[in-house]
Amino acid sequence: MKYHIADRMDRMAPSGIRKVNEKALAMERAGEHVIHFEIGRPDFDTPEYIKQAACKSLADGNVHYTSNFGLAELRQTIADKLGRENHIDYKASEILVTVGLSEAVFAVLASTLNEGDEILVPDPVWLNYINVPNLLGAKAVTYSLKEESGFQMDLEELRSKITEKTRAVVIVTPNNPTGGVLSQNTLRQVAEVAIANDLLVISDEIYERLIYDGEQHLSIASLPGMKERTFTMNGMSKAYAMDGWRLGYVAAPEEYIAAMNKFHQHNTTCAPSFVQAAGVAALTQEGDEVAEMVKEYRRRRDYAVAAINDIPGIHCQCPKGAFYIFINCRELGMKSAALSVYLLEHAKIALVPGDVFGPGGEGYLRMSFANSYENVVEGCRRLKEAVKQVRQAK
Ligand SMILES: Cc1ncc(COP(=O)(O)O)c(C=O)c1O
Repeated sequence: MKYHIADRMDRMAPSGIRKVNEKALAMERAGEHVIHFEIGRPDFDTPEYIKQAACKSLADGNVHYTSNFGLAELRQTIADKLGRENHIDYKASEILVTVGLSEAVFAVLASTLNEGDEILVPDPVWLNYINVPNLLGAKAVTYSLKEESGFQMDLEELRSKITEKTRAVVIVTPNNPTGGVLSQNTLRQVAEVAIANDLLVISDEIYERLIYDGEQHLSIASLPGMKERTFTMNGMSKAYAMDGWRLGYVAAPEEYIAAMNKFHQHNTTCAPSFVQAAGVAALTQEGDEVAEMVKEYRRRRDYAVAAINDIPGIHCQCPKGAFYIFINCRELGMKSAALSVYLLEHAKIALVPGDVFGPGGEGYLRMSFANSYENVVEGCRRLKEAVKQVRQAK
């Protein structure tokens, strides 16, 4: 029988991260001890007070659909959080609760991009920002984040890529895969460009709490004239170690919320009821849980950055946010994909080839330090040995 797969599916690439992960898991099943640096998810358990809130909600019988927009209490809680922490004055009616930030990306892009429209996205970037526009028949046009500039944006380059078809610019700060944090000055300039060219701004702030060295997260929607043109997207996955719970949100003017809700109604209906109750608890009852996780991420980061920069042939910048190190391997003279396979097969360390995140990632490997301190130490030891062998074989 012939399989009838729609042509549009060819416009989406399968996840290059999962490809490495599948191979690593297969090796584990065959008895190998692989160190996982490929997966971008917290290794911590969800804080107990959040689990308790979900259990209580279930015990109370909250097992049915909620409003498509999300529980009223959660929408208000999110609006309060955005006012208190991000200095943006949203009403509850300007919040749509989604099944992870991933669903928010689909909802935002499906509601704003016509076929043939262009959207400016970073290179390298979390690939949903390339694949979803492609699926929708829009065109993702990349702007580069270069290591030389600390993975900041080049505003001149951004301006040069704007055409009459450009609808929106995507910013991801802190960034996956670079760990870069856009400076406040850069964000102010992006806001100026957006206003001058009447562009929407799609702001992915999922890593806002995972930020180090006294850096301050700035939400672009808090800048003058920006709220009406910004989609502020966030979720519980990273800060609260809730990636499996699938809870996210997008904040935007009500007209956009109404359009996105049509997409959301036909896609997921609503985020799970008791998960939304847990989301209220996450945002209102937090003690020092997130701060403790961030402290431990920083400890691992500091170790790994020093260890990597001590290995002849590779080097990295110290990421200011998220839990990724983008390792520059150009000197080794191998393609990222081949190097990733070599390191997995010979050193049993799983790292994602940088080109998976766009052409600008070629020559890099992404290491997620969301793994135990001991594994970070052992993984860096293995990396050192393997890189030495690659250099000797040259
Ligand atoms: C930049 C970025 N945005 C969004 C997500 C996904 O978030 P969620 O789990 O809320 O769908 C990820 C996951 O890795 C990410 O790196």
